[in-house]
Amino acid sequence: MIAPRQIQTSADVAEHYDELDPFYREIWGEHVHHGLWTKGDETPDQAVETLIAHLADRLAMEPGQHICDVGCGYGATAEWLATHHGVHVTGITLSSAQLRQAEKRETGAPLLRFMRQDWLENKFEDNAFDRIVAIESSEHMSDKQRFFDEAYRTLRPGGRLGIYAWLARDRVHPWEERHLLEPICREGRLPGMGSEADYRDFAARAGFMVDGFEDLSRKVRRTWTLCAGRVARKLATQPQYRRYLLDARSKNRVFALSLLRIWAAYVAGSMRYGLLMASKPADDRA
Ligand SMILES: C[S@@+](CC[C@H](N)C(=O)[O-])C[C@H]1O[C@@H](n2cnc3c(N)ncnc32)[C@H](O)[C@@H]1O
Repeated sequence: MIAPRQIQTSADVAEHYDELDPFYREIWGEHVHHGLWTKGDETPDQAVETLIAHLADRLAMEPGQHICDVGCGYGATAEWLATHHGVHVTGITLSSAQLRQAEKRETGAPLLRFMRQDWLENKFEDNAFDRIVAIESSEHMSDKQRFFDEAYRTLRPGGRLGIYAWLARDRVHPWEERHLLEPICREGRLPGMGSEADYRDFAARAGFMVDGFEDLSRKVRRTWTLCAGRVARKLATQPQYRRYLLDARSKNRVFALSLLRIWAAYVAGSMRYGLLMASKPADDRA
């Protein structure tokens, strides 16, 4: 597990997304996650939806099921799933700024419900969900075992979990940790970045059966070339971007540097992007 030199709390994560809210929405859009290029010629908008469609397909979502979207961002994934699969989605986020945007989707959409809540201290009942998805949120959790334990507790027997996660490669070289992965964790408010093996272990210890793992690094990494280009264009044309970057009070401005590190980490193979799928045994009636 790669750990940052400074402790990153849930409050730091919330502040990151609150402070960078306008930039996230302008640069990423409403889906704050990677795109997935399966054919190669998808537009960026198609690629972000392909990532969600891939997850829904792998988890065999069916109309009427109840999904929990852990770390729902602006709620775009929840809305997509409700629209395309007829599922109920409860989305939670730490960020008030994200919640305000997500809640706008609830109007006239009875399948959607959003709340501000820390997954590590969630109040959901045992066996509440048919499926749990976590798209790039587990990285932000300080206690990864608890993240998996809570997923196990709140899934019904036979329920399934799908996690897209930023991962460190197995056997990281000291230079990769020092120049790429540790700073990426610190600058991006990740209390820890696990490897595929770490995630498999956490899942197994929680009681899950691991159904599979897909390494999607090559199919998602174009995201960072696109983001770096968008940031460069904004810096060149919009003074508020330059002001934010030059203002020492901007606590999260260092994330601009992270974009380049993340890009380099993918190119070097230091960072991976994976989908872990796991199931709660159908006979677990505890
Ligand atoms: C990279 S964003 C991904 C957002 C969303 N899944 C998407 O794909 O657009 C990370 C999200 O995880 C949420 N998050 C991080 N730690 C969390 C926690 N402990 N409990 C609930 N949400 C959390 C953040 O609030 C944010 O919404």
